[in-house]
Amino acid sequence: MAVRFLRQTARGPMVEALPADSGTVRPATRLQSRLFRRVGRAVGRFLQPRRKVAIQEWIINSFRIPVDWQPRERLQACFEEQLTWLISRSESREPAGDYLEFGVYQGNSLVCMDRALDALNVGGMRLFGFDSFEGLPASAEFDQIWSQGQFRSDLEFTRQLLDDAGVDWDRIELVKGFYDEVLNEPLAAQLGLDVASMVMIDCDLYSSTRDALAFCGPRLADDAVILFDDWESTDEEHGEKLAFREFLEANPHFRAEPQGGYHQKAEVFRLQRIG
Ligand SMILES: C[S@@+](CC[C@H](N)C(=O)[O-])C[C@H]1O[C@@H](n2cnc3c(N)ncnc32)[C@H](O)[C@@H]1O
Repeated sequence: MAVRFLRQTARGPMVEALPADSGTVRPATRLQSRLFRRVGRAVGRFLQPRRKVAIQEWIINSFRIPVDWQPRERLQACFEEQLTWLISRSESREPAGDYLEFGVYQGNSLVCMDRALDALNVGGMRLFGFDSFEGLPASAEFDQIWSQGQFRSDLEFTRQLLDDAGVDWDRIELVKGFYDEVLNEPLAAQLGLDVASMVMIDCDLYSSTRDALAFCGPRLADDAVILFDDWESTDEEHGEKLAFREFLEANPHFRAEPQGGYHQKAEVFRLQRIG
């Protein structure tokens, strides 16, 4: 059984590398997360939500705590199922395009996707992870749930966690920046990004989802999958639901079929170009 320890070094706290076969559930990580959440809940009762988030982010980043929010097994299984569908719709043994993830944070969902590709022996798909690596932008306030700066994981720590998980760096590219500043055609050209087959929206906010979908729209494959991690976190007039509704209104040549989610708040859609 793989165990993860936090180790203090001369350069500051760091996470010890996991053995290559470290599986999807890591007991010490779960323990850290659970302990962290319990203490957070107890202390949080006496704090305003924004102050609570600020303290939480400070603790995670100061002590380099890996946080496992994602149900990894179910997400990996969901990726495999959707990849299998994409491959069945493609003329080759590979999906027609790349994987674009909006909201990388500590890299949990990226690890799941990397493992899903290994499990299906898919070699040609590239994985792009877009994130500010500074947490949520100021527009977080619009959706009334999240706060500016929440989910901050700096690029170096995220890289380290992805290293620990043993991802295949040959197919992964992390792109740092706030979406309204960096997601544009020159960036797509620079990355050689022509076709997107699978899109993970885990950037929570209405404005972030809107910007991410606007970037993906022109390069979505005829058959594509979009995963929304926080679909049920808001009502229809906020968050990912509002942004996706607007996207479909602006792109009536796509039909979207809901597939259910990999956890209670998630929803997955298959998109097919019509006409
Ligand atoms: C909930 S976390 C992502 C969790 C991650 N997928 C995982 O599996 O743990 C949300 C992430 O979205 C990023 N984000 C949200 N809006 C953004 C924006 N407008 N520009 C850049 N990054 C953004 C935040 O920095 C944060 O890392």
